[in-house]
Order: sequence, then C-alpha cells, then structure tokens
Amino acid sequence: MSSLTARSATQALRAASRRAPRTLSSVSLKPARASYSLLARAATANPAVKGTRGVKTLDFAGTKEVVYERRDWPLAKLQEYFKNDTLALIGYGSQGHGQGLNARDNGLNVIVGVRKDGESWRQAVEDGWVPGETLFPIEEAIGRGTIIMNLLSDAAQSQTWPTVAPLITKGKTLYFSHGFSVVYKEDTKVIPPPDVDVILVAPKGSGRTVRTLFKEGRGINSSVAVFQDVTGNAKERAIALGVAIGSGYMYDTTFEKEVYSDLYGERGVLMGAIQGLFLAQYQVLRKNGHTPSEAFNETVEEATQSLYPLIGQYGMDYMYNACSTTARRGALDWAPIFEKANVPVFEKLYESVRNGTETRKSLEFNGRSTYRQDLARELAEIDNQEIWRAGKVVRSLRPDYKPE
Ligand SMILES: NC(=O)c1ccc[n+]([C@@H]2O[C@H](COP(=O)([O-])OP(=O)(O)OC[C@H]3O[C@@H](n4cnc5c(N)ncnc54)[C@H](OP(=O)(O)O)[C@@H]3O)[C@@H](O)[C@H]2O)c1
Repeated sequence: MSSLTARSATQALRAASRRAPRTLSSVSLKPARASYSLLARAATANPAVKGTRGVKTLDFAGTKEVVYERRDWPLAKLQEYFKNDTLALIGYGSQGHGQGLNARDNGLNVIVGVRKDGESWRQAVEDGWVPGETLFPIEEAIGRGTIIMNLLSDAAQSQTWPTVAPLITKGKTLYFSHGFSVVYKEDTKVIPPPDVDVILVAPKGSGRTVRTLFKEGRGINSSVAVFQDVTGNAKERAIALGVAIGSGYMYDTTFEKEVYSDLYGERGVLMGAIQGLFLAQYQVLRKNGHTPSEAFNETVEEATQSLYPLIGQYGMDYMYNACSTTARRGALDWAPIFEKANVPVFEKLYESVRNGTETRKSLEFNGRSTYRQDLARELAEIDNQEIWRAGKVVRSLRPDYKPE
C-alpha cells in the first residue's frame, strides 16, 4: 500500500506551508513542532505567552510551563557573565564534543579533561584542544576549572567519583547533563559535596545534534534543573550554561524527572520500542510471503522518509489528514488497539526505571572493561538482522545515497 502517495504528500506539504504561519501565530501554539526561531517569533504574537525578556510562560495544552530562551543571553552578556570562569569539561564523548566546541565558539574559557592517551584524548586533539593548554588529564582539569562539567559516561561518573569528589571544592559549580548519577546515588555512590551548586543542562538530543544545530544558528532544546543551590544563583547559572553549550530554549525540570523521563523514553519510543515494533511488523510480513524489500519499505522506509517527518513538522492529525482515506480509517481503528496492548509494557518499563533496575543494568554493563567489545557484538547482531540488511539495499537506491 502507499498510504501517502507522492502527489498527496506534495499537496500536504504545500497546504502545510500555507497553514503553518497561521497556526503558529494563533492561540493554539504548538511549541513541540516549532523551531527556536519560529517559537521566538510566535511567542511575540501569541497572547497565551506571558513573561519578560526571553523567559516565557507558555500554555502547554492547559498546563502552564516556563521556557527560557537564548535571546535573554546575547553573546556579550554571556561572555561577561562567565569572564572569571573556566569551564572544565570532563569527558569528551558525544556531549563533550558538542557542548565543548559550542562553548568555545561562544568565546568562553573552556578546557577539557580526559584520560591521557585514550580515544577521547585523541579526538580532543583532533578538534583543536591543545595538551597542556586546553587539554589535561581529568584531575588536573578539575583543579583548574571553576565549573566542573561532568560529561563522562554515566558508568564512568560512578567509577571515578572517589577520585573526583575531593577535587570539587567550595566555590566550584558541579554540572551534569543527566540526573542519573545523583538520583541513583545508592547505586552510583555519587553524593555531591554539600557546599557547591549542583546543576543540570540536559540537551534533548545527541551531542552531534547539539553541535550541528548550533552551527546552523538554531539551537537544541534542553531541560535545566537545580539539585543544590548554595550561592542562590544556581538556576541562573544553569540557564546561562545552557545557552553557552548551544541550547536555543530550555524547559524546567528536576534531576529526578529528567532521569526518569530520559531512561523511559530511550527504552521506549525513541529506540527500544521502535526497533521492537519495526521488527515485529517486518517478521509478520515476511512470514506471509512478502519480499524483504516490500516488508522493509512498508515498515521503515515509508515511515522514516515520508510519514514521520510530517508528524515532526505538523503533528499527528496533520499526517492522518495527508494520507489516503483507506489508510486513515485503518490507522484510526488500530491506534487504540496498539495503545491498549502497549500501556502495560510502558507501565512495566516506568517501574523498572523508577526502582533503579535499569540503572543497575546500565552500570553493570557499561562498567565492564569489555563494554566496547560487548556492545559492538550486540550491535553487529542488529546490523545482521535481515530487516537492516534489506534496508542497506533500499537506501542505496535513494537518489541522494552516499556510501556509509
Ligand atoms: N549522548 C547523548 O545523546 C546524551 C544526551 C543527553 C545527555 N547525555 C549525558 O551526557 C553525559 C555524557 O554522555 P556522552 O554520551 O557524551 O558520553 P559517553 O560516550 O557515554 O562517555 C564518553 C566519555 O567517558 C569517558 N570514560 C568512559 N569510561 C571511563 C573511565 N573508566 N574513566 C575515565 N573516563 C571514562 C570516555 O573516555 P575514553 O575515550 O578515554 O574512554 C569519554 O570521554 C552522560 O551523563 C549522558 O547521560 C548524553
């Protein structure tokens, strides 16, 4: 089937481009679908938006929430605010790379601390961090920093804490991008010293996206939280750091809410559930005699290339409206069946997050000395599944195909 023909997709997009500005400037603003610039523009025109400067109270489907925007922090103000600070980025994985380069490009004083001669050290050198000037072993970087940005892997944050903790002295700020270590302290043993501000900026995307959106002049959306406010300025510092690392706008959260929703989401619809659903649908098609290409196209290709971008841009109702009447009827009927079947699974998942089971599994696996090899083995198994092998061939036929 082709639930969304090329013609109807084109019509849909045309209609959307006519409709979008009206929707965004009307009272029914839907921030989740708006880019930073659209959000900022719409906020000015929207009577539901209250607040001063870049801080806004927005009505999210009946619940009022505060959103902090980058435009409250012009570059000169940001640089002035951090003029006496050294941002010590500990760890240089995906987030270290994105956040570090963005803060450096924003003209702030940034240094990187990683294991000497590890993979991250090599990558940091490649990105222009200079050993002895802006790149140091972890302990030395913490000693030199005023804001300690702990961007080690979550398992490494726990493993290194006995060495790191005594170096986080009074007057420094401790920063995380995940509530993991602090919230699950019984398992991680990460208990921040009582005399420092402890804050969080969690970008809602990979560090690569943090970097790409910054370079495009846009900015990722992040959540911000304060765990411990010793100076009275922790919240302001968190928001300013959010801007420094490349956020376009930020939502309020707590360490606990951030980690629960994040662990839940990535195990659910963001990754785990998607892989599970794709595979289930594909397998049934194959069992019923459909070819790999047909099964892949009806499961992954049409979803990712045609329908999901429309949901991202304009919402689910819009996507339903843009497809054929036949497709729409079936999708409307089957959605509640999938919902009913999945709610118990999601409830089980949330509980597994809340009671720390997911944390313990993650710490055990990612704390192994062989975690890179063990992970590579599991990912190779996925890569080798028929669905994804078929996908490689389908992708190679796309006009804009670039070999991996
Ligand atoms: N990735 C995301 O999409 C994302 C999004 C939002 C928030 N976060 C959060 O951001 C933080 C960083 O995540 P990430 O994905 O950027 O990093 P990551 O890839 O999980 O971690 C990489 C860093 O940890 C270091 N490391 C690992 N084991 C170590 C050990 N035993 N001792 C010292 N260093 C060790 C690595 O150094 P070597 O190269 O030397 O091994 C590397 O610099 C985490 O709290 C994560 O939850 C991540």
